[in-house]
Amino acid sequence: MAETQKQIVTVGVTGASGAILAQKALVLLEEDSRVARVHLVVTEAGQRLLMEELGITSGDLKQLPSRILGRATTRIEILPNKDVGASIASGSYAVDSMIVIPCSMNTLGAIANGMSEDLVARAADVMLKENRKLVLCVRDTPFNRVHLENMLRAQQAGAVIMPVVPAFYHHPKTIADLVTQYVCRVLAQIGLPQEEMYRWAGTPAARKAEA
Ligand SMILES: Cc1cc2nc3c(=O)[nH]c(=O)nc-3n(C[C@H](O)[C@H](O)[C@H](O)COP(=O)(O)O)c2cc1C
Repeated sequence: MAETQKQIVTVGVTGASGAILAQKALVLLEEDSRVARVHLVVTEAGQRLLMEELGITSGDLKQLPSRILGRATTRIEILPNKDVGASIASGSYAVDSMIVIPCSMNTLGAIANGMSEDLVARAADVMLKENRKLVLCVRDTPFNRVHLENMLRAQQAGAVIMPVVPAFYHHPKTIADLVTQYVCRVLAQIGLPQEEMYRWAGTPAARKAEA
C-alpha cells in the first residue's frame, strides 16, 4: 500500500465469544480517515453471537453494519457469507488487510486447512495466497491439540495469530478498557495504530534512569 493510499480492510466476524471486539473494531475503522472501505462478512454463528452478547438482530442484512455501530455508515459494506463470488473472494481485488474478530475454532480450522466453503474462509485464503496481512483473533479456552496445530499451520502460512487474551499492564478499570486495548493492538497489526492505544514505556524507575 502506498503511504498516501487509503486502506481497504475486510472484517470477518464468526461465532466465537467476543462480539463486542468486532463492534469496537468496526467503530474504530469507520472513524479512521486512513480507511477507504471496510468489507464486513458475518457467519451465521457470528450473527447469533451478535444477538446473544449484544442483542443485535440481523434482520435485513444490509442494515447490520449500522445496527452494530448504532449509527449510519457509508464506509462499511456487508457481504453475504454465502457469496463466495464476492469481490473479496478474488486475489485480483486489492484488499490490504483482513482481520477475523473473533475467530472461532471452526473458521480457524477451515483457514488452516485451505477449506473455503464460505466467504470468510475464502477471503482469508486469498489473503494468504496473495501474501497479504491476515490477523486471526482466535478465541476459545482451553485449546485442544487440533486448535493448537491449526494455529501453527495458519501462522506458518502467513497469518498473525492474535488470541483474545487481555492485557492488564495498562490498569484497565472497565470491560471497555480491556476491549479497547486489545482491539487497538489488532489494528496496529494491520498498520492502523490508534491514539487510544496504551504503550508500555518501561517502569517509572527505568524511565527516570533514562531521563
Ligand atoms: C454462545 C456461544 C458461544 C460460543 N463461543 C465459542 C468460542 O468462544 N469459540 C469457538 O471456537 N466457538 C464458539 N462457539 C461455537 C461456534 O459458534 C460454532 O463452532 C460455529 O459452528 C462456528 O461457526 P463459524 O466459524 O461459521 O462462525 C460458541 C457458540 C455459541 C452459541
